[in-house]
Amino acid sequence: MSKHFTIAIDGPAGAGKSTVAQAVARELGAVYLDTGAMYRAVGLYMQDHGISGTERIAGASGKPQIEVYFAGGAQHTLLDGVDVTDRIHSPEASLMASKVSAVPAVRERMVALQREIAHGHSAVLDGRDIGTCVLPDATLKVFLTASCEVRAERRHRQLAAAGKDEPYEKVLAEIVERDFNDAHRDASPMRQAEDAVRIDTSDMTEEQAVAAIVARAKAAIKA
Ligand code: DC
Repeated sequence: MSKHFTIAIDGPAGAGKSTVAQAVARELGAVYLDTGAMYRAVGLYMQDHGISGTERIAGASGKPQIEVYFAGGAQHTLLDGVDVTDRIHSPEASLMASKVSAVPAVRERMVALQREIAHGHSAVLDGRDIGTCVLPDATLKVFLTASCEVRAERRHRQLAAAGKDEPYEKVLAEIVERDFNDAHRDASPMRQAEDAVRIDTSDMTEEQAVAAIVARAKAAIKA
């Protein structure tokens, strides 16, 4: 496909965004960017350096050096040159990411970096504000969602597969807390863009979600 295109996939935690977005990017031959991983790496930086509170996080927001690269079909995230791909997916890192992502100075820097990475490529980005802020002119915008319970079950299974057994109720409570934080912050709260297609994956397989997005993307690219 020669024409450059961009696809924005937003939605709440555990909706399957990263797996689905990665598969969509692969099928369409596009670059994939997991923007949540970047906020997670910033969260880790603040945690590692004992920095908390909006003012201090904002003051330090220019310090962490975040880079991403692709290897073995997966995104690797570097924080100050160190691969933190494994560390950023702990439940603590999730909550830290949610906190730092509410700080406008952090968002400004990450949005600029995300636009730089996507620039000049056909790209699929997943996050919370891709359609509303990072790529307002995206070729296709998708809001991928699922019920809290289904999302908690998926996350619970993922954690168990990674050897991190967390009680289901705890995973559900964390999802509900993160949904609330992400949707109620002042800076670019998570919301569906007006021109986004809403896809509820509660009763869909991953393959069905990918096929639905690829079909819409092909139509939007042709248009
Ligand atoms: O998609 P994720 O669960 O890896 O995201 C981690 C946190 O980062 C999430 O709580 C919300 C925040 N985030 C955001 O505010 N904007 C994005 N574009 C991506 C993630």
